[in-house]
Amino acid sequence: METTLIILKPDAVQRGLMGRILARFEDKGLQVVGCKLMQISQELAATHYSAHKERPFYPGLVKFMTSSPVLVLAIRGNGAITIARNMMGATFGSKANPGTIRGDFGVSNSFNLIHGSDSPEAAERELGLFFKAGEVLNFERAGDRWIYDYSGGKAE
Ligand code: RTP
Ligand code: MG
Repeated sequence: METTLIILKPDAVQRGLMGRILARFEDKGLQVVGCKLMQISQELAATHYSAHKERPFYPGLVKFMTSSPVLVLAIRGNGAITIARNMMGATFGSKANPGTIRGDFGVSNSFNLIHGSDSPEAAERELGLFFKAGEVLNFERAGDRWIYDYSGGKAE
């Protein structure tokens, strides 16, 4: 099973969209294994988005991400990283397809509601930035046997 880091950005929290966005991941069958409402510091935003440090949009991105609280989630499932990225849609709200989170809830290119790790390496790094040891939980859901087919001995 993969675990990915999702951030519901300041616009999602301020617009009261946390529940509706989180419900999409739960509806899909993905498991919430970590959850934290927090205000991102300058240092954490800089570390998280260090790959974009030289890009023209970087100062605005850090300002936005630190402007108001975010909801940080650890989401688990088979293929969770790619599934979550597909559910999020294209980076810019103006380009994201209907049916995706960015496509359905926003039009802005910079206030784009949600972050999701884009690779297993990024997920591991980002989960470590936002969650301390013990804050991402391992537990069975009562309904897991109806979300995956375990007849072959593993989740399919
Ligand atoms: P994210 O990292 O937030 O999940 O978004 P992403 O992978 O879809 O996009 P990425 O290329 O990693 O860019 C990170 C965030 O920077 C802002 N951005 N602005 N104006 C621009 O050209 C531009 N490009 C990127 C977006 O807020 C994007 O989410
Ligand atoms: Mg990215």
